Amino acid sequence: MFDAKSEISRLLAPGIPEIEPQQIHDMLEVPPNPEMGDLALPCFKLSRILKKSPVRIAEDLSAIVSKKGSTEDIDRIEAVSGYLNIFLNKSVYIRKILSEILQEGNSYGSSDIGRGKTVVIDYSSPNIAKPFHVGHLRSTSIGNSLYQIFAFMGYRCVGINHLGDWGTQFGKLIVAYKKWGSEHAVQENLIDELVALYVKFHKEAEKDPSLNEEAREWFTRLEQGNEEARSLWRWFIDISMEEYKKVYDLLGVEFDAYTGESFYNDKMEPVIEELKGKNLLKESKGAMVVDLEKEGMPPCLILKTDGSTLYATRDITAAIYRKNTYHFDKCIYVTGVSQSLHFKQWFKVIEKMGYSWYKGLYHVPFGTVSIGGEKLATRTGKVVLLDDILSRAIQKTRATIEEKNPDLENKEEVAKQMGVGAVIFSDLFSNRIKDVSFSWDEVLNFDGETGPYVQYTHARACSVLRRAEDGKTIRTSVETDPAGKSSKAGHEMGCPGEMTSKSASADADFDSSLLSSKEEYQLVRVLSAFPDKVKQALDDLEPSILTRYLVELAKEFNRFYHEHPILVKEKGLRKARLALVQATKATLATGLRLIGLHAPEKV
Ligand code: ARG
Repeated sequence: MFDAKSEISRLLAPGIPEIEPQQIHDMLEVPPNPEMGDLALPCFKLSRILKKSPVRIAEDLSAIVSKKGSTEDIDRIEAVSGYLNIFLNKSVYIRKILSEILQEGNSYGSSDIGRGKTVVIDYSSPNIAKPFHVGHLRSTSIGNSLYQIFAFMGYRCVGINHLGDWGTQFGKLIVAYKKWGSEHAVQENLIDELVALYVKFHKEAEKDPSLNEEAREWFTRLEQGNEEARSLWRWFIDISMEEYKKVYDLLGVEFDAYTGESFYNDKMEPVIEELKGKNLLKESKGAMVVDLEKEGMPPCLILKTDGSTLYATRDITAAIYRKNTYHFDKCIYVTGVSQSLHFKQWFKVIEKMGYSWYKGLYHVPFGTVSIGGEKLATRTGKVVLLDDILSRAIQKTRATIEEKNPDLENKEEVAKQMGVGAVIFSDLFSNRIKDVSFSWDEVLNFDGETGPYVQYTHARACSVLRRAEDGKTIRTSVETDPAGKSSKAGHEMGCPGEMTSKSASADADFDSSLLSSKEEYQLVRVLSAFPDKVKQALDDLEPSILTRYLVELAKEFNRFYHEHPILVKEKGLRKARLALVQATKATLATGLRLIGLHAPEKV
């Protein structure tokens, strides 16, 4: 990858032999104002090491570099009050960046830093017989995006849905079903009915506490493999899974394994023995715990008084199983911030067991989601159901398409891709730890900082490329086209003619000196930042870095698009601008894919 900072630091290195080129690299800044250069070295940082004033350092360095005979990368260097301001040769820079993007296409920004490494990502993980709510959507979209990013960086990824499919709630559900439920009602209303039964159980148990006893008995039967209990439990899972799968299909999310909590039922015993053997288990009020007092945390509960296992017992067992099965380098858990203590506790238990790989365990917490503005009608009162949100988003997008581009061929598909995309995008827009508030108007706005805005910009780039292709045969339509002057959605949309792979690969042979405006240069700069952004998103386990980058890139592209006609008569200029459009299109598409969105070519 062409990296201006590296080039410059290599060039400056002989002038500052006291420090490593990497340190120079890290000191280089992007000045706030382009008049101060494309990069600047604040020389006061070197003053102590070189025992010279910053002004002197800047002057000396500029003299050294100028004497050396400049490289094609640099236009000029100026020493200004202790800063070394570096002006890149814009046309060389543009040529290098764009050629690289055009050459790499869909893999621009990828790397192989993960080669030979495995990362397990535990995400989504809803609880059986309970609805899939917006919190699970956040886990799903963050987890899925991390999966895409890690895969893009060469890691082998294993996506796991750690379904909440075990626990005493199944005893309650069985009791409720047997007392007040019917097969017909469950078949008819699916999860809604299961939730209703569960809610009814709690209401009734307040009046009649003996129901709790009954539920415990049924859970014990389930644990012991009682046939009736097993088959009801299986049925509740199947019904829930069917609904979750619909959501996953809509979101375009897949998992490599659906190994839920129950998967570890027969695997916990040896782990409990191991904890005992390592002298980590101690009794506390009849329960068995790992004491974490020294670590300043409450004890980690391993066995209840009645000998049954807990959430943490299953997580510890699952982590050991995953290490032995997948030999992961990292195992990442994406859940709400309310579970932070739980993960801290059992990560500590793994450490105390003597497993050094505890260092590869990461909890990736996120804030809560609330619905601002308009209230949604929900079926359970407080929880906003995900399929309500998604169908609402699709319906609203469909209406927008009807209004702006009624002739679009695959309206239904695009409405789905953009409606769902809008929801995922807004979910991934803020830093994950921040609480997010969901507002329909903001989420679905085609002009705001939204998924549809980025997707629309991508489609606009596709449309320009398509018209460029058509232009080879229908000249007049190109010449009379007011390209770049329309900002109305729909104007550019749905142009006839499919994108061919030929038109998708713009000519890499173009004259970059023709891209001389500040909008063009600025767009190339934003494009050049993409690989760093991907890397940063991976390092920080933070997809929002990419989400926000995409908005910046889309804005920059639209600025260019509105200022400069692309399909102009002069062949050279047209070719150069098309190269820029093509590079933007490729980068937008990759970025969208990495956050789990489709990039439709017509909207
Ligand atoms: N089922 C849990 C919940 O809905 C999330 C599970 C997360 N994964 C894990 N290994 N604990 O809150």
